[in-house]
Amino acid sequence: MTDKIPVIIDCDPGHDDAMALVLAFANQKLDIRAVTVTGGNQTLAKTLRNAKNVLHCLGKQPLVAAGADKPLCRDLQVAPNVHGETGLDGTNLAEAPWSEVKESAWELTHRLIEESEKPITLITLGPLTNIAILLSAYPKIRRRIKRISLMGGSVLAGGNWTSAAEFNIVVDPEAADIVFTSGIPITMCGLDVTHKAMILPPELAELKQHGGRASKLVSELVDFYWIFHSNQGFAGAPLHDPCAVAALAAPELFTMRDMHIDIETRGTYTTGMTLADHRMWTKAPPNASVCLDLNRPAFIRLLIDACKSYG
Ligand code: BDR
Ligand code: CA
Repeated sequence: MTDKIPVIIDCDPGHDDAMALVLAFANQKLDIRAVTVTGGNQTLAKTLRNAKNVLHCLGKQPLVAAGADKPLCRDLQVAPNVHGETGLDGTNLAEAPWSEVKESAWELTHRLIEESEKPITLITLGPLTNIAILLSAYPKIRRRIKRISLMGGSVLAGGNWTSAAEFNIVVDPEAADIVFTSGIPITMCGLDVTHKAMILPPELAELKQHGGRASKLVSELVDFYWIFHSNQGFAGAPLHDPCAVAALAAPELFTMRDMHIDIETRGTYTTGMTLADHRMWTKAPPNASVCLDLNRPAFIRLLIDACKSYG
């Protein structure tokens, strides 16, 4: 179908990344041209393996490419406290019998954008290293990128990895700075909205009762993800990364506001902060449509229906 949105998904699975893949590959509005992977929630070797195994579980075999194993100019921070040692603890997926392509994430993304008849939208679910390398290596390519729908940052909700910063941004703030100053339209799903995007126990029960392959996978993912978040006082598991998919495929579910966002790269306490200009008299032009709220029940229904569609 020609009216589908052509997208490339960059991710670091990760429990919520895996759920985002479930949501994206079931969505009829998206034409997914490739999945690229970065180190983030775990090392690149683990996130790459996880991405392929999740896709194999879903019966999908898109082009998959490995990207950066570390941020542009910092050491990689991983999140075993949230996602376990494998990056997908709580699941036991079969190994995908196929391999990633030989091109790097940015080479593949560049080629697919060049070959595409229409501008491509990027959905990013992890640190922005792969995208920053793409934009730096191929500066002209930004004109062919329609939008970046990303999970990262926050404008009012504070941080989750530090008191000021959200994980995806603080892991590679220099990369985030390159993306936010690129001039490419950005839809930003930060903690302001993703902390509201919770799946609650009755909704999880519906998935468990369904029991299909994607429903089972998402149930297992939420069960493990819930351990960390219940210890943090959440009433349900916040589904960060699926928001970046839904904000593109179902933007009517979100309340967005255009804002100017700067990335703090040299703070004493605030490195990785996404500093939003809230002034009414601001002269700084907006560089992001920031998601602030969502229709939570409709968002979860989208995910549950997506799970059920895999049979
Ligand atoms: C983000 O950090 C990662 O742990 C999640 O996958 C998500 O992309 C939330 O801060
Ligand atoms: Ca992620």
